[in-house]
Amino acid sequence: MKVKKILEKAYYENNLTKDEIKLLLIAEGEDKDLLFKTADRVRKEHIGDEVFLRGLIEFSSYCKNDCFYCGLRRSNLSAQRYRMQEDEIVEVAKRAYQMGYRTVVLQSGEDMYYTKDRLCSIIKKIKRVVDVAITLSIGERSYDEYKAFKDAGADRFLMRFETSNEKLYRKYHPGMSFENRIECLKWLKKLGYELGTGFLIGLPGQTLDDLAQDIILVKELDADMIGIGPFIPHPQTPLKDAKEGSVDLTLKSIAILRLLIPDANIPATTALGTLDPLGRQKGLMCGANIVMPNVNSLEYKLKYELYPGKICINEDATKCRGCIESIIVSLGRKVGQGKGQSRHYKRVS
Ligand code: SAM
Ligand code: SF4
Ligand code: FES
Repeated sequence: MKVKKILEKAYYENNLTKDEIKLLLIAEGEDKDLLFKTADRVRKEHIGDEVFLRGLIEFSSYCKNDCFYCGLRRSNLSAQRYRMQEDEIVEVAKRAYQMGYRTVVLQSGEDMYYTKDRLCSIIKKIKRVVDVAITLSIGERSYDEYKAFKDAGADRFLMRFETSNEKLYRKYHPGMSFENRIECLKWLKKLGYELGTGFLIGLPGQTLDDLAQDIILVKELDADMIGIGPFIPHPQTPLKDAKEGSVDLTLKSIAILRLLIPDANIPATTALGTLDPLGRQKGLMCGANIVMPNVNSLEYKLKYELYPGKICINEDATKCRGCIESIIVSLGRKVGQGKGQSRHYKRVS
């Protein structure tokens, strides 16, 4: 009964207290079903049945940071490093366009080899060659750099704050600051990027209270895109023996955020599909409306190892495209046409 009331409030007001969010996070049985069904209904009402696909180009596996959970962290000496050159990145973007993608996501570790000028040149070249939206996922930079990338043609930016618990943030991100990360997210919003942010589920030490606060912070940052994924331990990191994040809590967080920001774009992440063979399908059925297949060649896919066991790692990009399309159709949904800009972004800007 209580959960039903909370869901009604979320549906009409798009707002919940931390305690209400916590109750939804521990919902089970009929209550949980109702949470997922309500989120699915809200997704349908605000976004429709289209699932938009983003072509993910992981262009560098070098990183100057040392995040405790990530296989690309600089202290992982057995990580395989590569950098794609400008022409190669543009070629992959072209291939993604030919496969039907209308958004490409340029993602990398924090790699300063890609200076402001190099990245601007890559962005401009892609924009000249193909009509795609460009999402950057390259971590923290200066305001001037973010501005230059936007002026060069970048449309969107994805950067998770990872955890809203500052103590945990400090512990797992040596040399980095939570304050700076949030400041970067605010700059990106101010510069007119379609803003994506989110968090990891299941970092050791994270409590239910933290998770509820993570959800509230996404709402406060007024995200247009929301990336939430379970933590998966990587054997060459300090968190190698930690327990993986919960699929159930990930799905519930997706559902709750769909209720709080009804018109945001929310991906069913690869990490979710890695921990549960039906994870992406489940995500799409409880609020998600985006999937981000990798469009790189097998050689690079294997080297960009954030965590072990990643799905699709041995599949070529064309096969993934076909596979994901049939998954979407099997759920009674359809592949989105066009660039699939976040409706939240359109509404507020
Ligand atoms: N370097 C940029 C950054 O940190 O924003 C972009 C690339 S980073 C690899 C993209 C995301 O991967 C991070 O935001 C983090 O949440 C996720 N990630 C890293 N290691 C992970 C792990 N072991 N399990 C699940 N997700 C992980
Ligand atoms: Fe680098 Fe991003 Fe991995 Fe942190 S999460 S080590 S910033 S690639
Ligand atoms: Fe990659 Fe199914 S989406 S093999």
